[in-house]
Amino acid sequence: MRFHYKCSDCGKEFLTEDLMYQCPECSRENDGTHFPKGNLIVELSEDVLKAAAAKEHVTPDDFYPYPSTDPEAYPIGVTPLMRPRRLQEKLGLPNLSLKLDSQLVSGSFKDRASYEVALQAKALGEKRIVLASTGNAGAAASAVGAAMGLDIILFVPASAPVNKLMQSVLYGAHVVPVKGSYDDAFALSIEYTKRHGGINRNTAYNPMTIEGKKSISIELFEQMGRKAPDAVYVPVGDGCIIGGVAKGFSDLRKAGLIDRVPRLIACQSEASDAISRAINDGDTRAIRATTRADSISVDLPANGRMAAEAVKCSEGWAVTVPDEGILDAQLTLTRYAGVLAEPAAACAYAALERDRDNLVSRLGKDAEAVVLITGTGFKDMKAFDGRAAIPEAIENSVEELDKLSF
Ligand SMILES: Cc1ncc(COP(=O)(O)O)c(C=O)c1O
Repeated sequence: MRFHYKCSDCGKEFLTEDLMYQCPECSRENDGTHFPKGNLIVELSEDVLKAAAAKEHVTPDDFYPYPSTDPEAYPIGVTPLMRPRRLQEKLGLPNLSLKLDSQLVSGSFKDRASYEVALQAKALGEKRIVLASTGNAGAAASAVGAAMGLDIILFVPASAPVNKLMQSVLYGAHVVPVKGSYDDAFALSIEYTKRHGGINRNTAYNPMTIEGKKSISIELFEQMGRKAPDAVYVPVGDGCIIGGVAKGFSDLRKAGLIDRVPRLIACQSEASDAISRAINDGDTRAIRATTRADSISVDLPANGRMAAEAVKCSEGWAVTVPDEGILDAQLTLTRYAGVLAEPAAACAYAALERDRDNLVSRLGKDAEAVVLITGTGFKDMKAFDGRAAIPEAIENSVEELDKLSF
């Protein structure tokens, strides 16, 4: 067996490679008022970890439960690790990096999870993937589905940015906009799978989403010269990306390739801070999220428990920022680094700016800090309304040039 499952709450092990979503015992308690229980962790076999440890260089395939059969059919990573010199200077952090997952095929980090779930579907002989999304996971699943010949059924809040919805339509998914929140779409998609079958790709609900997302840590390890960074700033909504980052480093540690998981910093909007509350006060109740950063607007985080636990185990912490700070951070990223990030992605940079002195006091100014840029700003240019505008056109004459003030 290449892997088996373990319940993240009661620790019960399930010695199977069959499709499983949650621990049947622990998930029975879930009633929508508190972060769900019973999410499953994938445990890789000793043989898989040993084989990875023996290699000169590792790739995510060495750690996937379902390795690629044709990696070039939908390439995941290696996304650029940018050393943003002007931001390094601005913040006095000479070893700051930006990991540009905005450059994945569908424009967001979510390609990582969708790819591994597509490999799961192929391996299990399933043709249909069902999911709920705030927008990016849907676009990613739809893109992977188009490339790999899978049917995608996607439930999204009707209020999701139009470009994200249009992307999914263009990739050929069955898109079902829901008059409700992301959490409503989540519940409907699970009901759909129960009634009509298919593999449910909902974030964290399907443990392969975390397995796909962990690929970023394997990449970072190789990009940084076979070592882990000191701190990773991760934008957090459901907590599945940060759970995946933690899992990747944890697998590397189990393989003996690194000594410790880096500090994981959960970055949230003050208007969607459920996981920060859990980290700081142990409060796991649902909230009413209202942030403009749509991708991280979550009432009841699907991976809330594991995410909070992962941050604490890494000796990391949570940082919240006002929406205003997130939108300002989008402009800082464009003007100082040439990086166009959607609001959720800019949240991680906004959090780093706010947290800069704390980071330096804990880890020193030479700390290797990585900010995950999880989605491109091209998907949601409306976020810049009122902050940037295209200038009026000038007459086509040389006289007009003399009127310019720059
Ligand atoms: C661009 C972007 N950043 C961050 C997140 C947050 O990820 P998670 O919900 O797994 O915490 C998302 C999730 O949709 C996203 O699309």
